[in-house]
Amino acid sequence: MAAKTIRTAVFPVAGRGTRFLPATKASPKEMLPIVDTPLIQYAVDEALAAGAERLVFITGASKRAIEDHFDSDEELAELLDSQGKSELARQVRNLLPKYASCIYIRQPAPLGLGHAVLCARPVVGDEPFFVHLADDLIDAEVPCLKQMAGTYAQFGASVLGVEEVPHQDTDKYGIVEVEPGEGPVNRIKSIIEKPKPAVAPSNLAVVGRYVLTPSIFDELEQVGQGAGGEIQLTDGIARLMKREPVYAHRFTGRRFDCGNKLGYLQATVEFSLAHPVLGAEFRNYLRGVAARL
Ligand code: G1P
Repeated sequence: MAAKTIRTAVFPVAGRGTRFLPATKASPKEMLPIVDTPLIQYAVDEALAAGAERLVFITGASKRAIEDHFDSDEELAELLDSQGKSELARQVRNLLPKYASCIYIRQPAPLGLGHAVLCARPVVGDEPFFVHLADDLIDAEVPCLKQMAGTYAQFGASVLGVEEVPHQDTDKYGIVEVEPGEGPVNRIKSIIEKPKPAVAPSNLAVVGRYVLTPSIFDELEQVGQGAGGEIQLTDGIARLMKREPVYAHRFTGRRFDCGNKLGYLQATVEFSLAHPVLGAEFRNYLRGVAARL
C-alpha cells in the first residue's frame, strides 16, 4: 500500500483517571501539568510535530477543561498584554498553530480503547491516522510519532511504538512478539492484551503511540469484548495483522508513565531539571533534598 500523508491524530481522553483521585474528580487527568504544561498539550505538540493537522479528541464526562484549554481566549491574552506580560500572552495565543483544527467526539460509554478509536471513524475516513495516549509522556529529540511516521512512510503499514518493560509488568500492556531482525523496526508476529508474565510471548510492550491504517475500523467493528470486558484496540490490531503487515518500532527516547503517581513524579522531576528557567535552582534544591536522605 502506498503511504499517504498522516493528517489526523486521535486522542482518546475519555478515561476517568481514577488513579489520580481526588485530583481528577472534576478535572481531566490529561490536564495534570508537568511543570507548567498539561499532559494533553505535550500530546498535541508531539502530533503536530509529526505532521498532524486535525486533532480529534474522544471525550467523556468531566472533560470540558480540555476544550477550554485549546479554545482561543483573546480576553485573557489582552489582559496579560495590558499587564506587560507579553511573553505569557504570546504563549496563550499560540497553544495551537492556525492551520490546526480540533474536533471533539463524545464516547457514549466507557467501552474500551478500541471503541474510543472506532468513535473517530466518521472524521478519520479512509486515511491513516495517529493514536496518542497522553498518559505516556515521551521525552525524545525527534518526537516519537515523528519517528513512527517515518516508518509508516517506508512501509505504508501500521506501526506501533514499543519498548521493553520488566517481565513482571507484561500484564499492564499490549505485548508483541516480533520477527527477528536488525534495527529498531520489526514486523509483528503476534499481539496480546495484558498477558500474565507466565504466558507473555515477550517483554516488548506497546506504549501509547500508534500509526494505524483505516482498515483497523472494520476490524474494530468486529471485535467483541476482550480483556477487562472492554473492546480492546489490541484485539483489533490482532485481526488487522491477518490482512496487512503491522510493524513494531522501538522508538528512541525516554517514556514516563504519567498514568501512575511514581511515573508522574519522575516526569515532573526530570522536566523541572531540564527547564530553561527553573532548572538550575531546582537542581540545587534537589541536592539539598538528597543531602537529607
Ligand atoms: C492501553 C492499551 C495497551 C497499551 C497501553 C499503553 O492500556 O490497551 O495495549 O500497552 O495502553 O499505555 P491502558 O494503559 O489504557 O490500560
